Amino acid sequence: MSTYFIMKFFERTPIWYDRAIRWITFGKMADIRRSARSYFHPGQLVLDLGCGTGEWSLLAASQGAHVKASDTSPLMLQRAYSKACAASYGKHIHFAEQSLMELDNEPDKQYDVVITSLVLSECRKDEQAYALPHIARVLKPGGLWILVDEITPQDGVLALCIRCFRNTVLFFLRWMGVAVTHPLRICPADLEKLGFRIKHWQRLNAGTFLFCVAQKEAQ
Ligand SMILES: C[S@@+](CC[C@H](N)C(=O)[O-])C[C@H]1O[C@@H](n2cnc3c(N)ncnc32)[C@H](O)[C@@H]1O
Repeated sequence: MSTYFIMKFFERTPIWYDRAIRWITFGKMADIRRSARSYFHPGQLVLDLGCGTGEWSLLAASQGAHVKASDTSPLMLQRAYSKACAASYGKHIHFAEQSLMELDNEPDKQYDVVITSLVLSECRKDEQAYALPHIARVLKPGGLWILVDEITPQDGVLALCIRCFRNTVLFFLRWMGVAVTHPLRICPADLEKLGFRIKHWQRLNAGTFLFCVAQKEAQ
């Protein structure tokens, strides 16, 4: 959550955003993207929700996928667009200024891969609850959901310490009227209830950061 303000600052100055993410995550986001490269293939249709400066979209397009990259921030989209223009495969990315809350406009079983990276935690709990079933709905049977985000830590002493620290900071931030992130409160069973099979579930940064790849059951 302390990263939220830093992140929000850099979302308003997107030219610095990629560098900031590299520093904040000690290069972990780049490592995660590298390890996810094999999930993208030529001809796939990919939806990158909250695409930001487009790093995931560019990765998917570099592997031959066709990407719809959506975000609510014109500044972030502009940055992503200029990066796409500079890459030979950038023409395979279609950008849309669109909210995750407009997912009901997407047809059923449309995409081979949906990416949500650091965006769901910027949404309120009710928005997360809205988005998750839609992500399942818009994926083709056998399609993949790549989910990278903040997550509430598991039980244990470390988790308790992190929760106490977080709740104290949150209390003061809310008191000051400042918006905060909403780390996901999900476990593999929740995704299974939505019709997913977990292919990869990895907690990083003392269990507060999730890299998950879930596959929609083939019907
Ligand atoms: C922390 S950035 C993550 C960007 C990128 N996905 C990444 O992994 O670097 C969060 C992005 O989500 C966008 N965002 C926040 N709420 C959104 C919503 N409801 N719908 C679509 N995008 C949203 C923000 O504008 C921002 O670009």
